[in-house]
Parts: sequence; structure tokens; C-alpha cells
Amino acid sequence: MAELLKRTHMCGTLTAANVDEEVVLNGWVAKQRSLGGLIFADLRDKTGIVQITFDDTIPEEVFKLAESLRSEYVIGVKGIVKERSAKNPNLPTGEIEVFAKELVLYSESETPPIYIKDDDNVDDNLRLKYRYLDLRKLKMQENLKFRHKVTKVARDYFDENGFMEVETPILIKSTPEGARDYLVPSRVNPGSFYALPQSPQLFKQLLMVSGCDRYMQIAKCFRDEDLRADRQPEFTQIDLEMSFVDQDDVIAMQEGFLKRVFKDCLNVDIQTPFPRIPYDEAMERYGSDKPDTRFGFELKSLNEVVKDTEFKVFADALAGGGDVRGICIDGGSPKFSRKDIDKLTDRTKAYGAKGVVWLRVEEGEYKSSVNKFFDQDQLAEIAKVFDAKVGDLILIVADKAKVVFDSLGFLRRHIADLLGLLDDTQFNLLWVTEFPMFEKDDETGELKAMHHPFTHPKEEDIPLLDTEPEKVKADAYDIVLNGVELGGGSIRIHERDLQAKMFKALNLTEEECQEKFGFLLDAFKYGAPPHGGLAYGLDRLVMLLCGQHSIREIIAFPKNQNAQCMVCEAPGTVEDDQLEELGIALR
Ligand code: AMO
Repeated sequence: MAELLKRTHMCGTLTAANVDEEVVLNGWVAKQRSLGGLIFADLRDKTGIVQITFDDTIPEEVFKLAESLRSEYVIGVKGIVKERSAKNPNLPTGEIEVFAKELVLYSESETPPIYIKDDDNVDDNLRLKYRYLDLRKLKMQENLKFRHKVTKVARDYFDENGFMEVETPILIKSTPEGARDYLVPSRVNPGSFYALPQSPQLFKQLLMVSGCDRYMQIAKCFRDEDLRADRQPEFTQIDLEMSFVDQDDVIAMQEGFLKRVFKDCLNVDIQTPFPRIPYDEAMERYGSDKPDTRFGFELKSLNEVVKDTEFKVFADALAGGGDVRGICIDGGSPKFSRKDIDKLTDRTKAYGAKGVVWLRVEEGEYKSSVNKFFDQDQLAEIAKVFDAKVGDLILIVADKAKVVFDSLGFLRRHIADLLGLLDDTQFNLLWVTEFPMFEKDDETGELKAMHHPFTHPKEEDIPLLDTEPEKVKADAYDIVLNGVELGGGSIRIHERDLQAKMFKALNLTEEECQEKFGFLLDAFKYGAPPHGGLAYGLDRLVMLLCGQHSIREIIAFPKNQNAQCMVCEAPGTVEDDQLEELGIALR
């Protein structure tokens, strides 16, 4: 092996203050240029890039070796820091260069399949296949460093507040978080399967029964669900649980944490307490339970103004117990052509909308896709609901409440994005509270827990559990940042009779409960403290803090769109004898 030149400095840290010092650097060649008697090499490590200069005062064999350097060769250099004559203001080390005296080549490199450049936009799968090269990009190194920092602040903050990190098992029985489980066959118990945890939920509650009092964990979670920009099949939670607390205690602790993260990681002071918006209000105003409040375009109900209309779409929606609602895009009329609105309408189909009605407020006139059904006075009435002025564009959806909310919630944010109103440097944090306890399963029509079946109902709603369960609100809360659900939690049920009522409302029999989470119910027989907690999606938190738009950018080795790991090519087939041993036959 080539002699190891022991490093004295990292590349990106050298400044004019180091001039005349002898330094030793190790790293990768980002670029090499030969200008006859002078050779320049940009040397990169995780801290940055610095220019190395080889001139003809150095021994001939060193100069020759420098001439042979290619991109991504790994080298060690000893040299003297000098002030540059031509400074490069685009480079943090741009005031200096290192005049090499010694050079050691540790490794050569083939031509890399992707450019190691922050702004290189190659195909995602290629980036993921050669992730170790992709991660050489300084931007990616910064993202990893940032993630490390957020994780460390979490560990420090919760440690200072009496939380203890406890690891919970990965091979468990299915947890009731609502997604599909990843299953792992057991060899020792043929025909039986473990599930990978969707979250440590039940175990953290057991830890409260154990008297741990305050638990935290940087926890890997696994959910077999369809992927999106902010969803991965395996992701990480900052998972927390506290005993002897109510909702305000949990929220205050989390606000302290988020304040600290923003200060320590971004040097941003955020105001606490954060606004709290009840779920119903969030839906009514923003059409979403994770409202982005960086811009307006709030939803308004038109049920009252259009209640006598003969326009069939509106009339049918109202007759069916649905809604007619709209949003007003300030100054939006000249910005969206007929064609643009058609495109927007197309996009809302994914949310179940059958169409979008538009209304343009123009000088002395209202123009609308429903001119035939509404006279100018009626259109003026609609415009008045929004205080609309000349140049505004109103978009209206009429349907079942869910379709209306989902479609307008989407349009609101999508249009804000198109108009460039989503400022990554503005951080609007808020709590959504008073979630409904139950929601109807789309397929079966049966009630299911919106959060999970251990969520405590609001005290005053407990009597409704037997009579009108769909009206029961929960002591559940989500933390939302710029329209992204950052985390969620609740106060849990610790009373056995209340838990029994819950299961009854969920139509779960005694046996089913025992089979699913009997171990938690058993534990509750032996003294369960009142408790509650929350889990953040660490990936989402880091993504938003870094101003990234996909959690893949801040996960070292993420899965691709098809839930594959492009580096190790998982999932893959296994040997027949492995299946044999597990007693598994493939169909
Ligand atoms: P929940 O299911 O809301 O709650 O998850 C908590 C947070 O985890 C993040 N998250 C994800 N991030 C990336 N990829 C995914 N597939 C994914 N799924 C969820 C989100 C989410 O807000 N046990 C409860 C917490 C509790 O009640 O204490 C739970 O897991 O940011």
C-alpha cells in the first residue's frame, strides 16, 4: 500500500488564515487541469473543495504523477498554503491554494457513471444505484450532516428533559397503525410470522406501564404502503411517550423541542406557542387536516348562496347532503387561461371531483363556466362571499364533503406552488387538534379508529361512544409544518372499561382484541399510568428544515418508487433451501 500521508486539515476548512502553513490533505480529485508547466487539481472531501497546484519546482516524478490524476482518484497531498493571485469568490476556500510538495496515490477510479456535481440531474434510479457516488456530492454530505445534527439535538433535548432512550424490538406482532405489515417468516416456529413494527406504539405504552415515565427512541418503522415524495417503506421516527401528562403537557414539551431544533440547526427563532386549529376548522378553511398557512386562498362555503339554484351539479350535491365550496385566487384570472383551468380540473379528478366551476371577476362583468345557470346578480352574490375584486379567479367544487375538501385542498396548495408562493424559508408550524375518534372505512363502511384504538376520547364525548360514536372527538393532535404532517400523537386510554367501550364501538370482539393486542390489555390490568405521546417523522422534519422536496434526499440509502433498494437490489429471490427451511413454497 502507498504510504499514508497523515491528514492535518480538511479541504473545505482552509482559509487565508492558513497562509504559509504546511498542510496534509486527503480526498478525491474533483477535477484536474494541465496547463503545461502547471497542473491544477480540485481536491474534495466531505467539508468542501480546495485547489491544489503542482508547478515545475517539485520533483519530476511527483509532477508526472500529478499529470496522471483523473476525476475521483483518491490521493494524499502535502503542501504549503498560499494566497491565490486570481481569487475565486464562488468557493469558500477561493482565497487560497495549496502548492504541493508531495503526492501519494491511494486509489485510481474508473470514469464514474454519474457526475459528482450538486446540480447534476441524472435519472433517479442511476443516482440510487450509485448512491455511494451520489453521496460524494457536497450537498448530499451536508444533508447527512444536517440529519445527524437534528437527531443529536433530539437526543440531547429529550435527555435534558428526563427522557430515556429505550430500544424496542423489530421482530414483533403486527401493530395497529393502519398500513400493511412487512412479514418475516419464523424458522423455529414453522408457519408463523413476525411483523416489522409500523411504529413502537404498543411497546412504548408497555414502557409506561413499566414505570419508565419518559421514553424516547430514534426508531426505524416499516410500512408497506404506496410511496410518495414524503413516504418511504422504511423510515425513522423520533418516538416519544410520557406518563402523568395531559395534552397541554405533551404539546408544551414538543414546542420546546421544535424551538430548539430550529435555533440549533438553522439559527431561526420560532414563536411558541404554535396556533392550534381544531380538525373541523382546518377542513372548513383549508380543505386539509394538514393546512399550509403560508398563503391565503381559504375555502368558503357557498351552500347558503346557491341553495335555491336549479343548476343540477350544485343542487344534487346539496340534496345528497354534500357541499358547494370554493376558493378565490387573488389576481388569478389573468394568470390562468381556459386551458390552464382544464388542466387543474383534470388534476382534481384524482380526488374524486367530477368538475371545477370557474368564475372570473372582470371590469363590469362576471364571466363563468356556468353563465347559463346564473345571472350577473347571482354571480355577484358568489363573488361577495370571497370579497372578490377585479382580476380574481374563483374555483368551485360541488360534491360529497370529502371530495370537495380534498379537491379544493389540493387546488389551493397546487396553485400556490404554481404561483411561487411556497417560500421554503418560512416555517408555519401549527397543531391540528380535536380529531374525530373514528372514520368510515371506504371499502367496508365500518368505523375504524382514525389514529389508533388506544387514543383517548375527549372526556366530554365519552357518553357519545355508545350512542353516536361518529361524533366523538379524540385527545389526538398532529404537528403540521408548511402543509406537511410532521408528527402525530395522542393521550392514550389507560382505563380498562373505557378501552372495552372503544373496542365495542369498533365492532371488535373480545377474542379479536385479545388476539391483536391482548398483551397490552393484560399489562393494563396491573396498574397503568395516564400517559400520552407523539412521534415525528424524522425524515420529514429534516427534509423541510433542509428545504428539500423529497425525503429521499436526506436518507442515505432510500428505496426507489418501486420500493427497491437499487444498491443491494433488494428485494431479491432466495435459495430453494432457505425456503425449504422456513417451510415456505412459492405459488
Ligand atoms: P403516525 O402513523 O401518525 O403515528 O406516524 C408518525 C409520523 O411518522 C411519519 N410517517 C412517515 N414518514 C415517512 N414515510 C412513511 N411511510 C411514514 N409514515 C408515517 C409522519 C407521521 O406524522 N405511533 C403513532 C405515534 C403516536 O401516537 O405516538 C404513529 O406512528 O411524519
